Amino acid sequence: QLKKTDVVPLLMNYLLGEEQILVADPTAVAAKLRKMVVGGAGKTVVISDFDYTLSRFANEQGERLSTTHGVFDDNVMRLKPELGQKFVDLKNKYYPIEFSPNLTMEEKIPHMEKWWGTSHSLIVNEKFSKNTIEDFVRQSRIVFKDGAEDFIEALDAHNIPLVIFSAGIGNIIEYFLQQKLGAIPRNTHFISNMILFDEDDNACAFSEPLIHTFCKNSSVIQKETSFFHDIAGRVNVILLGDSMGDIHMDVGVERDGPTLKVGYYNGSLDDTAALQHYEEVYDIVLIHDPTLNVAQKIVDIIN
Ligand code: C5P
Repeated sequence: QLKKTDVVPLLMNYLLGEEQILVADPTAVAAKLRKMVVGGAGKTVVISDFDYTLSRFANEQGERLSTTHGVFDDNVMRLKPELGQKFVDLKNKYYPIEFSPNLTMEEKIPHMEKWWGTSHSLIVNEKFSKNTIEDFVRQSRIVFKDGAEDFIEALDAHNIPLVIFSAGIGNIIEYFLQQKLGAIPRNTHFISNMILFDEDDNACAFSEPLIHTFCKNSSVIQKETSFFHDIAGRVNVILLGDSMGDIHMDVGVERDGPTLKVGYYNGSLDDTAALQHYEEVYDIVLIHDPTLNVAQKIVDIIN
């Protein structure tokens, strides 16, 4: 007689057999997977980062692709180089601070607030229209990871909610999904910075609270939204992220089930300290993985 959980050792064998997949504590991962398989799709929610998690970090030539904010850097550079340069200067100044190993999170936060705040002001002051921004997205270098479309559609087909929790720009993700999938699947919800438009559809403000890399947790979640009722009872969380700021994205979900944390490592292989840190905070670490294969395999056994 086959048991539901018999699929878990098969998946574990796969995970442990791949050189690019690191699992620091296989016993703990297998235990989480068993609980998730027993709970099934009805008890599951996926909470995922967008930039460099659902989207690709680099193309085949190894060139860095765009984040949602980066859509402005590229397009504005083309149309208004002076303003474009301001976005690029901000990134050159603050990106190294975001990933600096020498600063604590508390030290980084004021810089992140300044970075996000300044770039959002530039967007609002320029009053970009909705159409222009949709066009920017069409011309952008945001690329889905291989299998991302199928993954999102599979979640929708199995009625597993997908929460896209992004410190990027939510509208850009919405337009991207609309352009790639034809529509935003019913199961998909956003917690992100949203550009607000005036009656003429020109950017006039950003939603509050501001979400930056280091406040992706319950502090920025509006729990009164009906969506939180939709996911009540979904005690098992699959969390997908690529940075240290992503590991608490499940903190707003009140429940006692496991969170299986899958982390994309996009950094250098020579940086063994960083890699080790990823192994400590993520259950499964995927090294330079341009696909959603592992997440898809996990969802496949849960159904
Ligand atoms: O939450 P997520 O990982 O998607 O965070 C968005 C990323 O966008 C940050 O890691 C940051 O490096 C980047 N960013 C940017 N330009 C800004 C603000 C943030 O490229 N103006």
